[in-house]
Amino acid sequence: MTAPFYITTPIYYVNAKPHLGHTYTTIATDVARRYHDMLGAETFMLTGTDEHGDKIVKAAEKNGQSPREYADRISRLFAELWPELNIHCDHFIRTTDASHIAVVIDILQKIYDKGDIYYSEYEGLYCFGCERFFNERELVDGKCPDHGTPPDVIKESNYFFKMSRYQQWLIDSLTDNPDLIRPARYRNEVLSFLKEPLEDLCISRPKSRLQWGITLPFDDRYVTYVWFDALINYVSALGYPDGEHFKKFWPHVHHVVAKDILKPHGIYWPTMLKAAGIDAYKHLMVHGYWNVEDSKMSKSLGNVVDPIYLKETYSTDAIRYFLMREMVFGLDSSFSETSIINRINSDLANDLGNLFSRVLGMFHKYFKSTVPEFDPDAKSDFQLDLKSDAQTAISDFCKAMDNFEFHKALVAVWEYIGKMNKYVDVTAPWELAKKKEAKKQLDTVIGNLLEGLRVVSGLIYPVMPETAATMQKHLGMDAEKPFYRIREIREWPQIPPNQVLPKAVSLFPRIDPETILGPAASGETHEPAAPIEPEIGFEEFSRIDLRAATVLKAEKIPKADKLLKLEIDLGNHTRTIVAGIAKFYTPDELIGKSIVVLANLKPAKLMGVESKGMLLAAVEKNACSVAVLDREMPAGARLK
Ligand code: MSP
Repeated sequence: MTAPFYITTPIYYVNAKPHLGHTYTTIATDVARRYHDMLGAETFMLTGTDEHGDKIVKAAEKNGQSPREYADRISRLFAELWPELNIHCDHFIRTTDASHIAVVIDILQKIYDKGDIYYSEYEGLYCFGCERFFNERELVDGKCPDHGTPPDVIKESNYFFKMSRYQQWLIDSLTDNPDLIRPARYRNEVLSFLKEPLEDLCISRPKSRLQWGITLPFDDRYVTYVWFDALINYVSALGYPDGEHFKKFWPHVHHVVAKDILKPHGIYWPTMLKAAGIDAYKHLMVHGYWNVEDSKMSKSLGNVVDPIYLKETYSTDAIRYFLMREMVFGLDSSFSETSIINRINSDLANDLGNLFSRVLGMFHKYFKSTVPEFDPDAKSDFQLDLKSDAQTAISDFCKAMDNFEFHKALVAVWEYIGKMNKYVDVTAPWELAKKKEAKKQLDTVIGNLLEGLRVVSGLIYPVMPETAATMQKHLGMDAEKPFYRIREIREWPQIPPNQVLPKAVSLFPRIDPETILGPAASGETHEPAAPIEPEIGFEEFSRIDLRAATVLKAEKIPKADKLLKLEIDLGNHTRTIVAGIAKFYTPDELIGKSIVVLANLKPAKLMGVESKGMLLAAVEKNACSVAVLDREMPAGARLK
């Protein structure tokens, strides 16, 4: 019997709206879960939000709300996003749920009673962004590796979990179960961390500093450290210790996280489970980061991508496909809209979409929309065998999916799509259709092609459930009972003969990059908006003298391929400015324009020309647009 399959995402902090990083993990989790449904396992998927701690208090304050109101609002954004992306979770947990709090208290008390929690004074380096203490060797140039800020020195009395006691046990577990943390690079990372003595974990925060948390059952002057609280969600959501779900699904769990939270999941969590007398989790699956221009996509860097924008622009299935196909699970990946468009145009529109409309087009034409009966074992004259190739594709797909190698699984499907396209070319059904005596052969060719499409529709189901359903509907599969179990997909043929199929649709229309990214896109995406600079007062702004100016003359500066020299009219005088826009504007284009100039900028010499002021323009690496006034104004008018 197939073992139950329990899969979790991290529970996301409610200090920011969901972005593409969170979306990737949650889609990957949904895909893995759907795949295990295909294997016939009983499955359970958990996601949710992590709501206690200093980070949330600060974000709530900034938004003028209480932590509770703020957490309610942001948590809802996460809960409402996932169904929009066809992610189906069985439970959405919030760490402010009473049932979760009760389990945290229960586990804390158990570990305390066992003697694994003690009280002590501690002085350490604390990062408020991460809400944890760091030791020197974890810092990079004395700064927090995630936030780039120096930690604060904090001295206070706190409760500590005797994590060090479980160091050897953890090393042994990782050595005995090479599969516990995957891919192997992350297991090795944890093992190498464990080469140094493990420090005990500070698991409390004094209420004098933080109240938004779960009060310790053995000392009401303290709340629980947010990670100790959060990790427990994975068992509290199942109704630990006596719940039916807990009994069924624990420890058959796969935790999916990115590498940023490897340490809490690879070290704190297994030792906490051990101390609480709960079986160790089965697998920790660790993926890399989605980067934008070499930096991790994150709220603090202000370079996040909105999943709803992507869904509305490209469709849910296309985004799910892109994310699963583009990232090699475990490694970092670069995000750009250009790569989404390339994937859609080549893999979805060209390969899959074309094959689907090509095959169904011929089927409707040559068979008047009625499924032919054919001999699935008939040996064709052609050296191609879609039936046995399908078995190979299914096996390769499963092997990759078992290892969370989503990209490889999709490559296996697309290789099969390639074979099907080749099969069409080689068998040339349009030639067979011309000869009466080739009728049987034509039945076989089209019959096999329809079956091949059915296999493809089944295999893409976990990644693109909507497309799978559309394909199956047009292949005459019962919409009420999708044929997505691996066992059923393997059976050939499956499509009931003699039924009339509905006319085909286009699965993925091609996308013109310019319509989405604009003419400047020519193969390159726009840069994400840079973070907004720190606030300034009006007084500071009023020292910046911005004026309307008319361009009287413009010319190139010899030997400076980026610079233009402009003579501008500022109402009561003219002056010269130099602008680095020669790559984007010809001198003629600028003459007569009413531009905006920073008039009180200190003069500077550029390539021997003194520039008295600076024009304003929106500038990116590959695009530039000079700011102009959209109504006539006298030169010299001030902008405020
Ligand atoms: N609340 C903790 C997790 C507690 S789990 C018991 C937390 N929350 S988080 O909101 O910061 O989410 C971190 C997770 O979001 C990452 O581990 C990853 O799953 C996802 N990602 C956030 N940014 C990401 C990228 N740029 N790239 C890939 N995944 C990203 O940590």
